[in-house]
Amino acid sequence: MSFDLVFFGGTGDLTWRKLMPALFQAFRHGKLPAGGRILAVARDERSDADYRQFIRERFVDVDSSKRPSDDEFDRFASMLHYRRMDLSQPTDYAGLKSWLDERGADTVVLYLATSPHLFPVICEQLGSAGLNGPKVRVVLEKPLGHDLSSAQEINRVVRSVFSEQQAFRIDHYLGKPSVQNLMALRFGNALFEPLWNRQSIANIQITLAESLGVGTRGDFYDRTGALRDMIQNHALQLLTMIAMEPPSTNDADAIRDEKLKVLKSLRPFTPASVARDVLRGQYKAGTVEGKAVPGYLDEVKVPAGSTCETFVALRTEVQNWRWAGVPFYLRTGKRLAARDAQIVVNFREVPHPIFPGTPRANKLVIKLQPEDGLELHLLAAKGAGQGDALSPVSLDLDFDKAFPTDRVGAYERLLLDAIAGRLNLFVRSDEQEQAWRWVEPILDSWAQDASDLKTYAAGSWGPPAASAMVARDGFAWAEEQ
Ligand code: BG6
Repeated sequence: MSFDLVFFGGTGDLTWRKLMPALFQAFRHGKLPAGGRILAVARDERSDADYRQFIRERFVDVDSSKRPSDDEFDRFASMLHYRRMDLSQPTDYAGLKSWLDERGADTVVLYLATSPHLFPVICEQLGSAGLNGPKVRVVLEKPLGHDLSSAQEINRVVRSVFSEQQAFRIDHYLGKPSVQNLMALRFGNALFEPLWNRQSIANIQITLAESLGVGTRGDFYDRTGALRDMIQNHALQLLTMIAMEPPSTNDADAIRDEKLKVLKSLRPFTPASVARDVLRGQYKAGTVEGKAVPGYLDEVKVPAGSTCETFVALRTEVQNWRWAGVPFYLRTGKRLAARDAQIVVNFREVPHPIFPGTPRANKLVIKLQPEDGLELHLLAAKGAGQGDALSPVSLDLDFDKAFPTDRVGAYERLLLDAIAGRLNLFVRSDEQEQAWRWVEPILDSWAQDASDLKTYAAGSWGPPAASAMVARDGFAWAEEQ
């Protein structure tokens, strides 16, 4: 199958930092269909050779095991092309169309790796140039909108040019191997499903913690904040996969229908419940992994006195028969104690304890990163005498060890899926809009008054109030258990 993959924003950060290295890995693993061309488009004038050199120089930043040898890079780079385009010029789109038509590849993937404010204009121009035929797919990078109405506007324009089957909205968390394993765990194994409900589960915690700060992206981040950057998309997508009903098939729409139902079942926020169940924080100076780091307000390009949140913790419920009354806690933050993304499923305690000592319940930890694995925490008798307290032990499964040669990175997976036309791991417009609808009352409340913003020391697990929020229900975050 021949394909043409076009990156709008071809010299931007996302393209050289994530997309090109991911494509190179796909190439190295022999997974990139032969006969493909990769075209970068951007504003400035360059030759193909210049562009190849531009990417080659940037590959030195890629971690060493993933870096190509000169020869490997040359073979990969022979697929790379470059084209200057002014994204507001119809003639430039006509030129692109001729370039693509001349070859007539089986599939054309147009990846919008630009700033999202350009999406509407690019889509409209693509439509006018006739670059929306049945073999064309469009990939849209987050952030898709800033709130519900801007997301709806982007979707309106996208839908006026492309069908839903042609629109591939990226949430790169869905491409992470651990997230695929979540589907496998739930729907490829009969073991857990009977326990996956309010009768057996006490609470579920989703933590997406980062130890990094905002780096040099202070201006972008300050317009975004943790709620829009991580909760509206990544954390909610994970929640849908944990909470969804078994889909009838493994088809994209069967899965996305079930995810949408979860989003629609989330308890809606009111101003009172935002005040009670949502907490925002901003990091102050502190020490992360042994290094002193500045506070958010001292990061480059962050406006003085900003009240942008770098941390969010919230409590919600999925209002249906399976989950009624089970708290779902979501938490994310920059400059936390560790880079650690995980889902913890805390099971209920035994109904009648016969062993002495504090009863500690079972939990299943789904580790997303940095490790990718599963831990099942059990209580065992440690060879002790009758009447002694039980000890916690865990059954550990490390997917990197279990499948040492088959690990595929998130962007690699998603790019290959876009080329192959598999929509399962992409977000449908109604899901995305429903997620915005759900976070909107939080955005509205926060916009009224920022006096609830807490601070936390860089290198901690966030404001202490986040622990109090969970403790109110009689629970504790995983690291405090
Ligand atoms: C992005 C956010 O979507 O996800 C970033 O914009 C964040 O702020 C990143 O750092 C985290 O992704 P990962 O894969 O490193 O956990």
